[in-house]
Amino acid sequence: MIKSLRGMNDILSEDYERFTYFINLATDVAQKYGFHFIETPLLEETALFKRSVGESSDIVGKEMYQFTDKGDNDVCLRPEGTAGVVRAFVQQKLDRAGGTHRFFYHGSMFRYERPQKGRLRQFHQFGVESFGVASVYEDATMIMMVADILKACGIGYRLQLNSLGDQNCMPQYRDSLVAFIESVEDEICEDCKRRKATNPIRVLDCKNEKCQSLYTQAPKLINSLCEGCESDFTKLKSILDDNEIEYEIDTNLVRGLDYYSKTAFEFVSDNIGSQSAIAGGGRYDRLVEFLDGRATPAVGFAMGIERLMELIVMPEKKREGYYIGAMDAEAVDLVVKLTQSKRQSKKVSCDFKAKNLKNHLKGADKVNARFCCVIGSDELENSTIWIKDLQNKTEQTIALEDF
Ligand code: HAM
Repeated sequence: MIKSLRGMNDILSEDYERFTYFINLATDVAQKYGFHFIETPLLEETALFKRSVGESSDIVGKEMYQFTDKGDNDVCLRPEGTAGVVRAFVQQKLDRAGGTHRFFYHGSMFRYERPQKGRLRQFHQFGVESFGVASVYEDATMIMMVADILKACGIGYRLQLNSLGDQNCMPQYRDSLVAFIESVEDEICEDCKRRKATNPIRVLDCKNEKCQSLYTQAPKLINSLCEGCESDFTKLKSILDDNEIEYEIDTNLVRGLDYYSKTAFEFVSDNIGSQSAIAGGGRYDRLVEFLDGRATPAVGFAMGIERLMELIVMPEKKREGYYIGAMDAEAVDLVVKLTQSKRQSKKVSCDFKAKNLKNHLKGADKVNARFCCVIGSDELENSTIWIKDLQNKTEQTIALEDF
């Protein structure tokens, strides 16, 4: 038997209901915030991710589904959504148009990670990207939007917040961090030694316990922010306070993608095990320029749909629509005809086999229909139909023309 690849799941039945429930709900919130849908390809030039997510990141360095296509192009399946949206933004010359552009998207992302609970190789994100607003109010709006989506899903969370500085304060901080790393270099893991050379701040979110305990002594970026970053971060916190969004400052929150500056945030859940990040995002004011566009401030986030599906509180399922069945083989044609006409306005299930009433009632229950409608020989003769309202537990026989 051929099975799906490791870390790649089918989504069907109840999971699919949860999936679409979330997408509809998040879409509704995004539209209320003035965002418009964008779809970008699953496959992009590898260079796009190298230049945005960054060659030193695990995502690009270790986890890409990368191959050469039949036209000899170096391509890969997108590991995340931001880079493609920025590429589209520049390609469509929206950077030149100026003004504000706000997009949302959802779809599959691919990362060749070690699969485990909550960590897949093909997973789905719901994300938004906002272009053209430098104000920290937009950062706060992103965070409030995630909070609104999670609230609508009945999901509790902890919000972790950090500032990664900008080109004014980050280089200086990086130098002091490198000096610190060198002072403990004999004791850190091989990955961190590599990170020191490629992207030193990534050592701060190393999962190795020994490294973590050493880095508690490391200089903190938050103490080295320049005036602009410092005042934006203070303002961000005060906007969140004003809007009653609780947060924790996590000075080690650096995010696994290289394009961020200033605001970085992650929403985590304590109820889904070790893969606890349910949403992450931040500001990326330099990325449009890195991808050959005109400098444009930008901020966004993405949510991991599979992780959220574990947590979503679904509304109570109401009985809906009709189930129509025949008790007599001669009534099947009529049942099909009635089904077809009722389907123009209602959800209708139909059984093509003649069965006894008990089995039809079971069938109606299985599809969660509100009305179980049955035609037997009596009903056929009298041009009537028997209907049971499975919610109110009432039954009646009515003329077919009234059905
Ligand atoms: P990210 O933190 O890499 O950010 O991913 C966002 C979310 O996707 C995570 O918080 C997590 O819920 C989910 N996720 C990531 N990897 C996996 C996986 N292997 N299996 C299941 N779920 C996963 C980004 O991708 C950025 N593009 C977010 C962003 C948008 N920043 C600015 N704009």
